[in-house]
Amino acid sequence: MNAITEKISLSTDVDMANFWMPFTGNKQFKAAPRILKSAKGMYFTTADDQKVLDASAGLWCVNAGHCRDEITEAVHKQMMELDYAPPFQMGHPLAFEAAKKIAEVMPAGLDRIFFANSGSEAVDTALKMALAYHRARGEGQRTRLIGRERGYSGVGFGGISVGGILANRKAYSGALIPGVDHISHTHNLAEMAYSKGQPAWGAHLADDLERLCALHDPSTIAAVIVEPVAGSTGVLVPPQGYLQRLREICTKHGILLIFDEVITGFGRLGKATASELFGVTPDLLTMAKAMNNAAIPMSGVAASRHVHDAIVNGSAGGAIEFFHGYTYSSHPTAAAACLATQEIYRKEGLFARAAGLAPKFEKEIHALRGEPFVKDIRNLGLMGAVELQSRDGAPGARAYDVFLKCMEKGVLARFTGDIMAFSPPLIVSEGQIEEIFATVKKALHEVA
Ligand SMILES: Cc1ncc(COP(=O)(O)O)c(C=O)c1O
Repeated sequence: MNAITEKISLSTDVDMANFWMPFTGNKQFKAAPRILKSAKGMYFTTADDQKVLDASAGLWCVNAGHCRDEITEAVHKQMMELDYAPPFQMGHPLAFEAAKKIAEVMPAGLDRIFFANSGSEAVDTALKMALAYHRARGEGQRTRLIGRERGYSGVGFGGISVGGILANRKAYSGALIPGVDHISHTHNLAEMAYSKGQPAWGAHLADDLERLCALHDPSTIAAVIVEPVAGSTGVLVPPQGYLQRLREICTKHGILLIFDEVITGFGRLGKATASELFGVTPDLLTMAKAMNNAAIPMSGVAASRHVHDAIVNGSAGGAIEFFHGYTYSSHPTAAAACLATQEIYRKEGLFARAAGLAPKFEKEIHALRGEPFVKDIRNLGLMGAVELQSRDGAPGARAYDVFLKCMEKGVLARFTGDIMAFSPPLIVSEGQIEEIFATVKKALHEVA
């Protein structure tokens, strides 16, 4: 244990051996655990009663702030009334109401909503929809799926196959979906370091899809999936014109475009979706996380009418049209949380609030330019990253220490490799934005 971990090691009486923690260095964590016991609004409270400002909305998901009474009450009421209803061949009112509410904020035309429980499941669902769509239209030879380097689309076999993060693929490389290829990522510090908002350089990187079309023949490609702003790989903002160009190439070749909006959906960029912000409409859009403020696991896919209709109208009446779904698709409590969350977003105008705070967020995060180890800063909406120089021979170690230092000083940030990522709840105040980056600044001066 080093000095930093010792200081923030939080006591708990629970035996930690049994819980095999996800995406966590289990041995490291259990030697110096960080336990959160409660949360309200912008703050977590740790097991030793330290208040921690949430600079990452949990995992990019608690957009309305923690423990909102409206959501808690809606879930409680639902649990008392109807704890569960099977979603196969049966329905319950909130499932239809939630789908309608979600459709209202989706891009025009993407108003057929399929529910799942995690972002990974939403991605698998969208990939299956793409394959089923082409098959229903007599183009069953379109089986190829295209992802992007550095992309993160969850951890299902679909998601890691189209995803482009080595560590998530390496151990499973022999079992990835066949016939998947990747376009290049858009990260290029020589051309776009310290961009504010969308980098001016790089629209042409979308042409990499033409390279894959020339290699595989476009008539074999079912879909391309990208995060409009890549989140987990360290906030890669798309160059101006890039997504438009990707859309044009997909349309030209009859390839479906899937936007993975698991992070960007529901106000993170100041609009309901990145699609709305960029004015680019995909054929399928995945969502999760903030769709119900992460209160109960829930995700979904918004499908365009043409995808939905091709699959649903392509089968005889009485037959199941899409052989896919989950026991907990449209779970009553998740749907109740979803409706309550969407009402908070609407009533409090949180998407517009995020847009209004974005300039302040940009100013404060870019004020870290020139601080120790900083080699790039990028941002869009209430999403930003500070990329650090890696310590020789120890990639990720410096950002981990900054993360610990921030935690010690009362701010919970995220890190991926040597990139610090920030995505506070949309209820964050200007003062709290200042506090987040002032804390990061201090932390940068205290690490080696
Ligand atoms: C863009 C994107 N897609 C998919 C996922 C996977 O979501 P989940 O962890 O809910 O499976 C994530 C998670 O962070 C994500 O950021």
